Amino acid sequence: MKRKIIAGNWKMYKTLKEGLAFLDVFIPLCNREMMEKCSLVLAPNFTLLVSMAGRCREAGISLAAQNCHPTGEGAFTGETSLAMLADCGVSHVLVGHSERRAIFGETDDFLNQKLKAAVAAGLIPILCVGETLEQREADVAESVVEKQLQQGLHGVDLDEKMMVAYEPVWAIGTGKTATAADARTMHQCIRQCLESMGGGGDLPVLYGGSVKPANAAELLAAPDIDGVLVGGASLNPEDFARIAGSM
Ligand code: PGA
Repeated sequence: MKRKIIAGNWKMYKTLKEGLAFLDVFIPLCNREMMEKCSLVLAPNFTLLVSMAGRCREAGISLAAQNCHPTGEGAFTGETSLAMLADCGVSHVLVGHSERRAIFGETDDFLNQKLKAAVAAGLIPILCVGETLEQREADVAESVVEKQLQQGLHGVDLDEKMMVAYEPVWAIGTGKTATAADARTMHQCIRQCLESMGGGGDLPVLYGGSVKPANAAELLAAPDIDGVLVGGASLNPEDFARIAGSM
């Protein structure tokens, strides 16, 4: 059985003390059975990366950054390069989370640059895609996601190590989850889109948006859903462990 990916996105939550306290509780809950069934990824804030790296590595948890800048170095105040992230023990990086797109105006073209730079730096990008409620209601959800994939992955070898996370914007932080059936339909559409772009057969496609212990098992049981990207529920070590242990 392929291991499912359980990724936690802490967004702008947790101080250093809180992050380390999370690990104190979470790591002992990562038993062998859980670790055989899933790959764990945690995306804390930049300020926590260095301090969490050693303990995460020992526990078999991969560390992700929530963002990156595509340029190697330069006059980009407030930004962080991929080499700097790799230095901190980071192996994965979120690219194009809907909050980056909506609040910080990141375009598909800029995300494409980040994705290419992440691959070139040997990090695993997790490209986030998803439609808004208006787009779903206007029946354009699939074409919106296809465009995000085509532009975000333009010129990228789909056999490189990377992941896609389907996160319907209306399900993020709202308590509304796509039904497993809705998620599966979009995941199949994403697979078809990747195939039409010439590959991506082994590329994991995660679901995100109000994933919690109560709905994780159903989502993770779906063969087209290769894992989950968890926001709010990943802040609580017991909840995150329950999600990871729900297969
Ligand atoms: P949520 O966030 O689980 O709190 O809905 C998911 C995400 O933004 O990745």
